[in-house]
Amino acid sequence: MLEQIQVSNFAALGQDIDQCKVDALKEQAVNAVEKLEKGTGEGNDFLGWLHLPSSITEAELSDIEATAKSLRESCEFVVAIGIGGSYLGAKAVIEALSDSFDAYKPGNCKVLFAGNNIGEDYLADLMDLLKGHKFGIIVISKSGTTTEPAIAFRLLKDMLEQQEGKEVASKRIVAITDAKKGALRSLATQEGYKTYVIPDNVGGRFSVLTPVGLLPIAVAGYDVKALVAGAVEIENGDDENVFTYAQTRNALYQAGKKIEILVNFCPRLHYLAEWWKQLYGESEGKDHLGIFPASVDFTTDLHSMGQWIQDGERTIFETVLSVGDMSHSVIIPNDDANLDGLNFLAGKHVDEVNKMAELGTRLAHVDGGVPNLLITIPALTERYLGQLIYFFEKACGVSGYILGVNPFNQPGVEAYKKNMFALLNKPGYEAESKAIQAKLSK
Ligand code: PA5
Repeated sequence: MLEQIQVSNFAALGQDIDQCKVDALKEQAVNAVEKLEKGTGEGNDFLGWLHLPSSITEAELSDIEATAKSLRESCEFVVAIGIGGSYLGAKAVIEALSDSFDAYKPGNCKVLFAGNNIGEDYLADLMDLLKGHKFGIIVISKSGTTTEPAIAFRLLKDMLEQQEGKEVASKRIVAITDAKKGALRSLATQEGYKTYVIPDNVGGRFSVLTPVGLLPIAVAGYDVKALVAGAVEIENGDDENVFTYAQTRNALYQAGKKIEILVNFCPRLHYLAEWWKQLYGESEGKDHLGIFPASVDFTTDLHSMGQWIQDGERTIFETVLSVGDMSHSVIIPNDDANLDGLNFLAGKHVDEVNKMAELGTRLAHVDGGVPNLLITIPALTERYLGQLIYFFEKACGVSGYILGVNPFNQPGVEAYKKNMFALLNKPGYEAESKAIQAKLSK
């Protein structure tokens, strides 16, 4: 088995990647790494993620594990409340490691998510599920003021206090937020919650290896020490995979491939792609630049998006996340009658069929003019997911600097909030409210 994730742009497939253009970006990629290391690039006040894995102490990880254990022992459900970077990393790792039908099987404490939407029915369904059950809350917000998690927390905190009384509730709530600032910090201090800090210099989308991601992952029963150890391996390794990925995707972008589709052939990776979309979308999509990050789940989406990818506008490229070994073994049985004509597959692992679908699809898409990168993950384990997370984070910083943007800010996400607050008549938004009313009445 491979010991590490690997990235390849497979020039050997005969595809339309101009290797000279990829190689020409090497100097910029090396400069980008230097800017990250020396902190001389834009956004250098948000580089706390760069040496985060190797700086997390054994004591910090043990403390997270102890909190997780206490929540697991006292709760049937733990609701992780957060949105964007305060949600997607934990969701991605938990889904990648979990039994796909975990929710329907009896067993240990289940981790649920809320505060990542403003769905009234979603919240009503969740509260209906939690009614009469022992539950806990991990509320996560770096700013401590984000509307979606704040609404969910207000509702669930109230419900927990009604069900268990204030004292028990305060022991089942953990807050992860800024060290000093924000409404959530003040509330946590006042109510006496256990808290963890999101470091100032780690942006939300780079925070999965802080308590933001690690606590919910540990509550779900996964080994956060192995996850962090995997990340450390890439942090301390060479940058060849980072260079291959960052240079190739920028060379393709310069050649008119404006959309990158992250492809998986493993349903457990759906949310890994959602996490990746936030990481790359928020980091690179600015100044009217940036690859649009999209994703598909194959083979499922070959039956919906396959036609477009094979034959639509040629502005796309694909990055395939390929998983080496499956966690389980399922063999296709022989059937004497063979009425379905499937006996040619009898005795094969289901994954053997999946792998041929993967290779066949990659060849077909390359033939159709869709350049193809491949990221191989030896297996879906904590260690390899840790490697993958850190690899994507570092490649994102390098890629953003090659593109020429500040990969560590996100000024564009404020625009909808301003309108929403004005429309809801939040105090302080009177002028915006008037301007919107004038626009709407035209
Ligand atoms: O990456 C980011 O900065 C954002 O996606 C934030 O994580 C998201 O908006 C949630 O913010 P907060 O943690 O402040 O509630």
